[in-house]
Amino acid sequence: MDRLQKVMAHAGVASRRKSEQMIEEGRVKVNGKVVTELGLQVKKSDTIEVDGVPIQKEKLVYFLLNKPRGVVSTASDPKDRETVVSLLEGIEERIYPVGRLDYDTTGVLLLTNDGELANKLMHPSYSVEKTYVAKVKGLVTKDKIKKLETGVKIDKTTSSPAKARLVNYDRKKNMSTVELIIHEGKNHQVKKMMQAIEHPVEKLTRTQYGFLTTEGLQSGVWRELKQFEINKLKQLVEEA
Ligand code: URA
Repeated sequence: MDRLQKVMAHAGVASRRKSEQMIEEGRVKVNGKVVTELGLQVKKSDTIEVDGVPIQKEKLVYFLLNKPRGVVSTASDPKDRETVVSLLEGIEERIYPVGRLDYDTTGVLLLTNDGELANKLMHPSYSVEKTYVAKVKGLVTKDKIKKLETGVKIDKTTSSPAKARLVNYDRKKNMSTVELIIHEGKNHQVKKMMQAIEHPVEKLTRTQYGFLTTEGLQSGVWRELKQFEINKLKQLVEEA
């Protein structure tokens, strides 16, 4: 569900402000009835007409990007840094990332213009499983791995139960590689969890989002999701 003026704007009718004006002027019908109040929530299946002409809804598109370092996970950046959206050259639809990866985090990132699915995927109650691999200084002991699994203090709350394992310890460099599987998606979640066990993150990558991985995608490369993958993502949030 989305607000009527937002759907109109996305369909390219006019800006959101102008669309609101058109609604107030009585020029917009939803399922054959004139709507003049603002903020009406409409479904994908609703028919919307402006001046008697049905609007052309934007085709829904879904992409998977292997995000490189040094790119922001927003559609535009006030500091004019490169954005994940600008990496998907030639895409005309107004896509945006599903959640965020930090500027220096790499890995699996979904982008779409399907607001309904994106909101569900990001909502804590649907809690899609995300796998991260963090490189940290020192040896992460079994006790600390246990702490990550049972919950650590971050931002005055305790992190939810997670799965964690030590993948590798490089004695020469004194560096550990830790895999962390979490459902939560708070700001800088993994960095804060690792900070809490006194092993600040030096490098972070998201290797999996639900069932999606970057397999076959080099850094900075993207592909369209296959229909069965889109269906599976929708199933994920419906089952939850
Ligand atoms: N957790 C973080 O700390 N950073 C990310 O980019 C993603 C998860």
